[in-house]
Amino acid sequence: MINNQWYAVASSKDFKKGRLYPVERMGLKLVFFRNCKGELHILSDRCPHRGALVGMGKVVNGHLQCPFHGIEFAEDGKCACVPAEGRKSNKNYDRFNLKNYPVREIGGIVFMWYGDAEPVSEPPVFDIMTDKRFKYGHLNDTWNIHYSRVIENQLDVQHLAFVHHNTIGRGDKTLINGPKVVWLDENTLQTSANNEKDAGQVPRGADECSINTTNLTFKYPNLWMNTINNKIRILAYFIPVNEDETIISIRFYNRITGIGLIDKIIAFAGNWADLIVERQDKRVVEKQIPSKTALRIDERLLMADKPIIEYRRRREELQRS
Ligand code: FES
Ligand SMILES: [Fe+2]
Repeated sequence: MINNQWYAVASSKDFKKGRLYPVERMGLKLVFFRNCKGELHILSDRCPHRGALVGMGKVVNGHLQCPFHGIEFAEDGKCACVPAEGRKSNKNYDRFNLKNYPVREIGGIVFMWYGDAEPVSEPPVFDIMTDKRFKYGHLNDTWNIHYSRVIENQLDVQHLAFVHHNTIGRGDKTLINGPKVVWLDENTLQTSANNEKDAGQVPRGADECSINTTNLTFKYPNLWMNTINNKIRILAYFIPVNEDETIISIRFYNRITGIGLIDKIIAFAGNWADLIVERQDKRVVEKQIPSKTALRIDERLLMADKPIIEYRRRREELQRS
């Protein structure tokens, strides 16, 4: 993991008011709780008393109640009551407080601050997330591999003609020009495919290529967008569950007709097409060895792997900082 980052960790629609949701993210046991005002809270899900999962308990008077011995916590994680010592007890129970993780919800995506201290920034966003002209469909799929491999796959322009030979990679464009990689800011990488049929030509270098209208943009730590054109975008976030599991959340956004209901139907259909493509990736990527990537691992990289190398380089820098 990269420390001190806002990770996209879930979809807002998955959390109803007044219920507890035990969830694993970044290898942490967490409980998600939306209060009666609709505000979402994320707390550590291990009861400091004797280690039960608070998320298996219930909500009592707006408090989270541990299922084991009934200790209650306020929505910010502060211990509010220890039944065994009496409701009127005025002792200090701060040692029972649950860790409270900062949360933001933007465009129906839940961001959680994963860090030692308070947030030093706001979450990364794409304008599409809050642009009401666009309609989207949403799907989730779970991959049994580290999230870094899933991200790399979405930056890989070299696999198209093989993994997706009968879908988005039709045309046998096996020769990889570039790929061009640009940094839009220090944590935003952009690349695009300049692939061609192999007629015996030498691949062009990155300097001779440019970023196409159709391109891929990635924002650390886990947000990605494929710009198809100014009316269609595919957004994805790669949710780290633990070292071996990632949830890929994909949204097909469009404003093709400008008529809400029709664009919504198009989005739904677009999502099914995405699912077919995504399953082609999953079949190969889930079996990659090792499960987790790094800048220096036992792989023999090519010029065509440039976006992957750049991703790894910056990731390692952020991990060190
Ligand atoms: S383990 Fe939670 S109240 Fe005892
Ligand atoms: Fe792919």
